[in-house]
Amino acid sequence: MFLCSLCLFVAKWFLCLFVACLTLSGIVDKFRVTGGRELHGRVAISGAKNSALPCMAAALLTPETVTLHNIPYVRDIITQRRLLEDIGATVLTPELRTHKISAAHVELFEAPYELVKTMRASVLALGPLLARFGKAKVSLPGGCAIGTRPIDLHLAGFESFGAEVKLEAGNVVARAPSDGRLRAADIHFNKVTVTGTENLMMAATLARGTTTLSNAACEPEIVDLADLLNKMGARVNGAGTETIQIEGVESLGGAEHTIIPDRIETGTFIVAAALTCGELEIKDCRPDHLTAIIEQLRSVGVVIREVNPTTLEVSCPDGLKAGHVTTAPYPKFPTDMQAQYMVLMTQAQGRSEIVETVFENRFMHASELQRMGAQIHIDGRSAIVDGPSPLNGARVIASDLRASASLVLAGLIAKDETLIDRVYHIDRGYEKIEAKLRAVGADIERVIAPVTATQSSEFNLQVASLQESKLKLEL
Ligand code: EPZ
Repeated sequence: MFLCSLCLFVAKWFLCLFVACLTLSGIVDKFRVTGGRELHGRVAISGAKNSALPCMAAALLTPETVTLHNIPYVRDIITQRRLLEDIGATVLTPELRTHKISAAHVELFEAPYELVKTMRASVLALGPLLARFGKAKVSLPGGCAIGTRPIDLHLAGFESFGAEVKLEAGNVVARAPSDGRLRAADIHFNKVTVTGTENLMMAATLARGTTTLSNAACEPEIVDLADLLNKMGARVNGAGTETIQIEGVESLGGAEHTIIPDRIETGTFIVAAALTCGELEIKDCRPDHLTAIIEQLRSVGVVIREVNPTTLEVSCPDGLKAGHVTTAPYPKFPTDMQAQYMVLMTQAQGRSEIVETVFENRFMHASELQRMGAQIHIDGRSAIVDGPSPLNGARVIASDLRASASLVLAGLIAKDETLIDRVYHIDRGYEKIEAKLRAVGADIERVIAPVTATQSSEFNLQVASLQESKLKLEL
């Protein structure tokens, strides 16, 4: 009897491992969504990808162990982990969402093209490596679907710290002054940049003197990173405001930190509940990080009740009305919610204008939504949406992370079936979104695409890393 249940358990575990490997490797690349169901129930929010990534990079600032909890299990985290391991750090995962990172034996000061091309946030290794080791080489990230996304402000900041920054064969090669230590500086960003603020804030922690970053980004992820750095012994003040002061110290130590919940995942599920005329309880979130999102959604008819500091209740009993929005850096309405909001406005009474000010090419989802029957007119950085328009299922292609989320949302309300291609985009930043949606009543499933030769070699790589991380597939 014992033997049967053990065999059953092992078989089940390997099946889970096999499905998870296929899922996370980007080999599985379609979602099939059948629309028309209301969502009801409870959904738990995962940790914030955009905080976990810089916090993992911050571990490079010290030889001691940094333990991070509430790490989301998404593709970008696996890429960041591979980057750290390639550099020579060790990343242990005593459990799925806890990473114990030790950069005691870093040998390579380089973020290679192969990784940077899959995830721009790899540039966050530049600041910590340069500050602690006095040198770093990072492939210059190219543009991406949503814009050219230069890192000139990052590089100008490192030069202000006295570093020599050169571009060699597509790589940024940076060297600290001859004594190996960066010099503090007053840096004014002429454009608000999130990872720019994070990169320079991390570098400044080990610089000689006190740095001031002005017109800095104020996102909650910046505050979360600063909290970790201060636990490591840094002296960062003013994170979350436009002016951050960092008094450099000789060295940093280990720390333990829990990553904040993902405010964009929270916003995405609020929209899912409203669109499907359902009722959702969203738990493990931080409503205080979503002020602009909640305000905008309430203004168009979504009922959002703050049950307690980590739980929201969402419904939309009286339908939606049109509402204009302009994206801008925090605390304004985030660009990462623009695509999801556009789908919502396709179902609202009247005409809405959505102005995208952060990225120059972030309306790729609009043409796919038009193919589903949405009335959207794009004029430069402005999208005019007329509603309500009934949507019909179709084959659509995801172009980037948030665009793919908007297509899933559209599929939830479309007539018949929607087949979404390239869902590897969504796996980059949403932890098992189809499982979470199915648990509250959605009809969504992953469709396995035939595996090509190149994909199978990538698959083997993934299996190796997953076996080590002892994956548990829980909802
Ligand atoms: C972060 O990207 C997020 N990524 C993005 O989330 C998010 O959309 C963006 O901030 C804005 O909120 C992570 O945190 C990993 P920026 P980042 O530097 O830091 C220009 C998602 O969906 N700029 O704040 O790369 C830039 O081109 C992703 O999770 C320069 O000109 O964005 C853009 O127009 C997508 N020079 C604007 O500033 C620079 O040196 C804001 O970009 C840096 C930025």
